[in-house]
Amino acid sequence: MGKRDHFVGIDVGSKKVVCLIGRKGELEELNIIGIGVRESRGVKNGVIIDLDATAGDIEEAVKEAETMAYLDVEEALVSISGAHLQSLNSLGTINVMGKEKITSEDVDRLLVQARSIAIPNDREILYVLPQEYTLDSQSGIVNPVGMTGTKLDIKVHIITALSAAVHNLTTCINKAGVGIKAIIPSYIAAAETTLNADEKELGVALLDVGEGTSDIAFFEKGSLWSSFVMAIGGNYFTRDIAIGLRTSIADAEKIKRRYGTLIMPGNRDETAIKIPSVGSGKEKTIPIDILIDILSPRAEELLGIFKQQIGNSGSLKYMNAGVVITGGCANLKGLDEKAENVFGLPSRVGCPGAGIEGLLDRVRYPEFSVAVGLLFLAARQFGGGQGTEGKGLLSKMRSLFERF
Ligand SMILES: Nc1ncnc2c1ncn2[C@@H]1O[C@H](COP(=O)(O)OP(=O)(O)OP(=O)(O)O)[C@@H](O)[C@H]1O
Ligand SMILES: [Mg+2]
Repeated sequence: MGKRDHFVGIDVGSKKVVCLIGRKGELEELNIIGIGVRESRGVKNGVIIDLDATAGDIEEAVKEAETMAYLDVEEALVSISGAHLQSLNSLGTINVMGKEKITSEDVDRLLVQARSIAIPNDREILYVLPQEYTLDSQSGIVNPVGMTGTKLDIKVHIITALSAAVHNLTTCINKAGVGIKAIIPSYIAAAETTLNADEKELGVALLDVGEGTSDIAFFEKGSLWSSFVMAIGGNYFTRDIAIGLRTSIADAEKIKRRYGTLIMPGNRDETAIKIPSVGSGKEKTIPIDILIDILSPRAEELLGIFKQQIGNSGSLKYMNAGVVITGGCANLKGLDEKAENVFGLPSRVGCPGAGIEGLLDRVRYPEFSVAVGLLFLAARQFGGGQGTEGKGLLSKMRSLFERF
């Protein structure tokens, strides 16, 4: 099988490591042909804290996906997260006066200028994403190549990462016997499969709330304007349940997944739940209100923190299309409704689904947004066909894959 026939995405999360293998079908649809999922033992708050454990988890997940797909994985797109990811917006300007036409070399020169910012020694630039070009006083230009003017400006979003975190991730993937095609910030991958073009045009905030990180990205006019990662996530809910109901962390996790809700269930059978009682080994029955009372203040607190952070970045007033929540915590019933209240904006859960076939049933949940998004990005960038040109985010990421 040729290298271009299939694509591989590996999402190294704090709760789980996922390897997906996809292949493009005859109608350009993405077929998922292999899935491997392992509990993650060496990642905390999105950052690798145990190289051997993580390399082992990746290897197992890859093996499982390979067995299902009947092929060997050589290279993959890999997600990166963690509060060490930082971003800023920068500008570049070049003089194009007297030129017959602006060329792609001019645009490259402009990008180099925009990315020449001072960053600390222990950090590196992961990506430079063009936001918009301005030619003389004409703003909002998507691609200036071929145009004529005197002064060309660019606005860019620059994402930086701690070099040690990038290095450790690379080491783990390589140790697992896989080469890296590109490292992609989790929220860029998640956005690829959960947000539609209208939302990204009108202004939308994506919240990927996982186990140990919450990744936030704000898009408007089709571009990424602010992004950040916070070291908070679903483990807060688990701890609250463990403390509030006096259970082990493992039982609290089970209770959260099985019964976790922020709203009163319509069905009366669900208004009382059975939980294990620590020590006695017996089950006890409690009203669901108790669980709601434990989870609700935390949900409001987390959403309030996200709102404040987005507000600090100045993006709140441009969120015309509201909020999209993804990641495992988006399964918590009523979190979208809570987000509507906290933000005062329409909110929905974002699941991967549109445009994929094959083992769809296993991945159409919010916790698979990043892994599926990686596959979409891989298929677009490396899959030939039509997908590599156009107005999409990826086509703007000219420098995205430069490092590799
Ligand atoms: N049905 C559910 N109800 C409530 N919470 C859930 C449910 N299913 C999963 N979760 C929670 O989602 C979190 C895991 O999300 P996810 O799989 O997106 O994390 P991750 O990608 O491994 O970690 P991170 O992105 O934080 O590094 C856990 O806290 C888990 O308990
Ligand atoms: Mg995640």
